[in-house]
Amino acid sequence: MEWLHNYVLWSIFCLMTLIWHLRRRNSYRRSKLPPGPRGWPVIGNIFDLGTLPHRGLAALKQKYGPVVWLNLGPVKTMVILSAAAAEELFKNHDLSFADRFTNDTMRSHDFYKSSMALGSYDSYFRTLKRICTIELFSSKRINETALIRQKCVDEMLLWIEKEVEEGASGGIELTKFIFPASFNLIGNLTVSRDLMNPYSEMASEFQTALSGFSECLGSPNISDLFPWLRWLDLQGLRATTDQSLGKAMQIISGFLDDRVKQRQQNEGRAAEHKDFLDVLLDFEGSGKNEPAKLSRHQITIFLMEMFMAGTDTTSATIEWAMCELLQNPESMKKIKAELVRVVGVNNKLLESDIDNLPYLQATIEETLRLHAPVPLVLPRKATKDTDFMGYKVPKDTQVFVNAWAIGRDEENWEDALSFKPERFLGSSIGYKGQNYEFLPFGAGRRICPGIPLSHHMLPLILGSLLHHFDWKLSENVSSEMKIDMRERMGLAAKKLEPLRAVPTRMTTSS
Ligand code: HEM
Repeated sequence: MEWLHNYVLWSIFCLMTLIWHLRRRNSYRRSKLPPGPRGWPVIGNIFDLGTLPHRGLAALKQKYGPVVWLNLGPVKTMVILSAAAAEELFKNHDLSFADRFTNDTMRSHDFYKSSMALGSYDSYFRTLKRICTIELFSSKRINETALIRQKCVDEMLLWIEKEVEEGASGGIELTKFIFPASFNLIGNLTVSRDLMNPYSEMASEFQTALSGFSECLGSPNISDLFPWLRWLDLQGLRATTDQSLGKAMQIISGFLDDRVKQRQQNEGRAAEHKDFLDVLLDFEGSGKNEPAKLSRHQITIFLMEMFMAGTDTTSATIEWAMCELLQNPESMKKIKAELVRVVGVNNKLLESDIDNLPYLQATIEETLRLHAPVPLVLPRKATKDTDFMGYKVPKDTQVFVNAWAIGRDEENWEDALSFKPERFLGSSIGYKGQNYEFLPFGAGRRICPGIPLSHHMLPLILGSLLHHFDWKLSENVSSEMKIDMRERMGLAAKKLEPLRAVPTRMTTSS
């Protein structure tokens, strides 16, 4: 009997030693990771994200510092919350974190396989980046397409003018006009056609489909936390994505079919003008480090990404800028006075005026600082185990850079939460990825390639709205009442309640 007793004691001893050893090893590993809140078993730190992850994560800095570690279910996650940590990441470790994290919704219709913005950092990515940089965003193309931007903005002013004539005393929903204008701009640049007006049905179908997809992409998903539950699609996000992405792809396929037919009819005749879609259809790569041709799936997704990346972000930025100006009458006065002085009362704002409108540009910058449209940039992924600021960050870690929190950090910005465009006047701080306290377009290898276009588009749209009309809040929002500034998450952080404002034709006294 004694042997059994000894055996049990010996087994317990071995088991305890093993547990102690494993715990020590885990805590050693844990000590090599950045600090972070203790998570729940299995689900980890999912509740620390909250419904607006950029806000939930920003709050962790006070307790855990600028680099925070979370376990989101099985997904290892590092969060960057200060300019210094962002600088270290983008300057010294950019390549190690240049991949994107693939979530379940991106698998819908094999989206991630053809995606540039959400795909891996590989030769396919570099091919697409080269194409869009040359064909859409080079200085030459930006200069050549100035008239297209002007046309889309003029159209937007006419739509609003019509509302004014019909008596828009209750106010108009601003994004109803900004969104189609930015959408048509991308439409004209890529497929040479207007696709929307605020009243068209097909347009709203396309917009609904893209917004549906974008919202699913930005939503926390149980299927990402527990891949073994993926098949159940507990929140229905995969089903919604399949449907909305499928619809958007079907509409873009229609553009493609039209173009292929048109090209067949014109065969033999030299094309007068080759647009972005023609370039994609004609693409011939070496087949070694780049594809020999782009497939229909690749072209469809690439085109769709240009719409997704360029419309919600633009429309959200202008809406936030208008909210801030309506709540800051002094800034509104200054910007309008500058427009009158530089452009002239009866003249139209042209892109060539923008360099002479520093307050307008500063207003855009201040808006992007306070309301980074892509608050967590786009999640990166570690391509290998990396030593980062004294921590050991394992391969495949997801990385969030909280540009929203960094833009509001008192360590870098005086009176950080106040809207003060003046802080950018005469300042050398810009959004091109060199100033790590201000990262609305990200930085490093995956920085937004659309900056040159946005640099022209944002001041042109905002300046034209302000120079053409006077604006006030609708009757049911009194001037003392603050505008509801709550956000709604998708790929871009938009206003939860769309802004309604009353336009009137500009008076010379403004
Ligand atoms: C207010 C306007 C915009 C903002 C705030 C914005 C912001 C961003 C951000 C934060 C990223 C991720 C950068 C990173 O990971 O470091 C990004 C990526 C991207 N943006 Fe923009 N963007 C804007 C406009 C545009 C426009 C107009 C286009 C094109 C028509 C565009 C196309 C893209 C693409 C293709 C990527 C993916 C780049 C990559 O993965 O390497 N964006 N953008």
